[in-house]
Amino acid sequence: MNADFRLLSDYCRLNKIDIRFNEPMSAHTSLRIGGVADALIIPKLRFLPDILGILKDGSIPYTVIGSGTNVLIMDGGVEGVVLLTEGFYAVEILPSESDSLYQEIYAEAGCRLKRIISLCVDSGLSGIEGLSGIPGSLGGAIAGNAGSFGFEIKDVLKSVHLLMPDLRQIEIDASEIDFGYRRAILPKDSIIVGAWLRLKRRDPVAVKKLVISYLRQKSMRQPISKRSAGCVFKNPSGVSAGKLIDEAGCKGMRIGDIEVSRMHGNFFINTGSASACDFLRLMDIVSKKVMDEFGIVLEPEIKILGRQ
Ligand code: EPU
Repeated sequence: MNADFRLLSDYCRLNKIDIRFNEPMSAHTSLRIGGVADALIIPKLRFLPDILGILKDGSIPYTVIGSGTNVLIMDGGVEGVVLLTEGFYAVEILPSESDSLYQEIYAEAGCRLKRIISLCVDSGLSGIEGLSGIPGSLGGAIAGNAGSFGFEIKDVLKSVHLLMPDLRQIEIDASEIDFGYRRAILPKDSIIVGAWLRLKRRDPVAVKKLVISYLRQKSMRQPISKRSAGCVFKNPSGVSAGKLIDEAGCKGMRIGDIEVSRMHGNFFINTGSASACDFLRLMDIVSKKVMDEFGIVLEPEIKILGRQ
């Protein structure tokens, strides 16, 4: 272990922060694919600035990952340190006037969307129901402007709490962020550490009904209980990538243990112990088929990280 890693390791031990060396990333992704990270740290938010400072001082490369539900981590693993945000997951309803139509909540970035939605159901807060069934964390959802059923996370975002590369923490208004389809442009090298959401007060029963209806629709159309990374490709303008993949005859295609879902063409399922390399090969074959059949280029939606 070099001196910088030792310093990091000592800091974590002293503060009882979960740090693991040579950690298989397959244990931290919904696909159950991913080689070994040199080190993986799961800090509480209050320790993140110090850790980032040590990483920067030691020029140790680092990668921030939320709940690993929209990533493909390569078989060669990840160089340096993976910072998992799942260690900071607090969520709170903020004080507000009781007659106000709106209610704000603050959630840390590692908080799962599922947990936020369930708090909204219990408290009668509306606006985020359309994101039901998306398995990721709030930070990941903001970074990729996650969406479903015509809703996007940006619709309920008031502002974002960022840790900047110079270790300052700032609040940036959602209106200052350039959001697009599955895209958010944030200040370079900033880390999303939390966000303020603005929800509308509504009858809890009505909110619950909507959540149940979206979850039902999702489970009918998407293989949500299988090991996947969600949609592999972005939808090209005006058309579903899943439909194109389906019509190009790719459903059920497989390489090794990776299979194009027979339920929804834009989901690739790890049916056993698939490799990232097989996943990439299948992406390649499927996109070539769609190109040959329809002349349409498919762009990856999943983030591909790590060493080949
Ligand atoms: N379809 C097929 N075959 C398939 C898949 C879809 O014919 O294999 C048809 C469906 O029957 C439907 C149309 O294509 O008529 C659209 O399908 P769906 O409603 O499933 O929506 P999608 O465009 O495939 C998008 C998002 C999903 C989101 C759903 C629901 C993308 C890439 N996908 O899928 O988001 O959950 O709408 O709103 O934007 C994700 O981003 O990871 C994701 C899963």
